[in-house]
Amino acid sequence: MNSYGRKFRLSVFGESHGTMIGVTMDGVPAGMPLKESDFSMDLKRRKSGGIGTTLRREDDTPLIISGVYHNTTTGAPLTIVFRNQNTDSSDYEKIKEWPRPGHADFVAMEKFCGFNDIRGGGHFSGRMTLCLVAAGVVAKKILATGNFEGSKPVKTAKHHAISISAKLKAIGGETDDKKWETLIKEAIKEGDSLGGLIECTCSNVPIGLGEPFFDSLESQISHLIFSIPATRGIEFGDGFKAAEMKGSQHNDCIIDKNGKTKTNGAGGINGGISNGNPIIFQVAIKPTSSISRNQKSFDFVTGKVEEYSIRGRHDCCIALRCPVIIEAAAAIALVNA
Ligand SMILES: Cc1cc2nc3c(=O)[nH]c(=O)nc-3n(C[C@H](O)[C@H](O)[C@H](O)COP(=O)(O)O)c2cc1C
Repeated sequence: MNSYGRKFRLSVFGESHGTMIGVTMDGVPAGMPLKESDFSMDLKRRKSGGIGTTLRREDDTPLIISGVYHNTTTGAPLTIVFRNQNTDSSDYEKIKEWPRPGHADFVAMEKFCGFNDIRGGGHFSGRMTLCLVAAGVVAKKILATGNFEGSKPVKTAKHHAISISAKLKAIGGETDDKKWETLIKEAIKEGDSLGGLIECTCSNVPIGLGEPFFDSLESQISHLIFSIPATRGIEFGDGFKAAEMKGSQHNDCIIDKNGKTKTNGAGGINGGISNGNPIIFQVAIKPTSSISRNQKSFDFVTGKVEEYSIRGRHDCCIALRCPVIIEAAAAIALVNA
């Protein structure tokens, strides 16, 4: 199903080139100040416009249609919509015959028997992450006020002030950010794309979020992170390097009665439960699959592997737009936990 969460539940709806996209959140506490301009900063961070991002420009203006009265949350389901205004669906007919390699076209065609909306990637589009970012703004507000109850007025809540920050660490394996622009320009010239690595840190997380088993905090965060299209991997703390380390290197020495550790190889989570240290994880974002240089794949009309170039407006490096989406995913997971 297209919904996530128990205590903080959201569902997203819409398609890239449909009338609008949106998100409905349930479990939002009543009495929280919320207005459309609160979304501006995070929505702007996700926007296209910089080098390496798509030429599609949308104003991304949020419209709150339920759950807020007099600029304050009511506790009822909160729905926010965004109109799609700058669409050009002319380049998408070909993918009915030749599903793009690396994209969701083939699986969507099979699973939904060809009834899915293919325009702009339809419901699989990166545009849907606008809804995640909007939900993330609400989740960050809940984390900042410390009211996770979903019913009690905010003024009675205990203040935790969890903060979340994600940043781009590498593009195409290059960690020196001064070289990124040249790398991107080269990839654009070659009609190719680039992947990237993003690191996210969640600070002031109280001890005890998450469960030992199926709802481990890593699983809850990963569940949301893998809902971001183009995610290829996530690792917490030392991550995959832990497989090469010795226990004496990977173990985190506890240095005070609050559980503070000298190192953070666990990434702030032990036994599925937050340990009070910062939660640190990295996310690998793949290179965009829609590239303009020729690629081979199966053509369902000719019945042969054929070579084509993909047209349309696409991001060259999706990772550039992802830090704020990843922050949103982490915030939603923490509120739910
Ligand atoms: C912010 C954002 C922008 C994206 N832009 C594009 C794009 O311009 N072209 C494209 O082919 N894929 C783009 N994607 C990725 C596709 O949506 C994704 O690759 C596709 O749905 C298949 O899913 P998968 O890569 O997770 O298997 C974008 C993803 C995000 C998060």
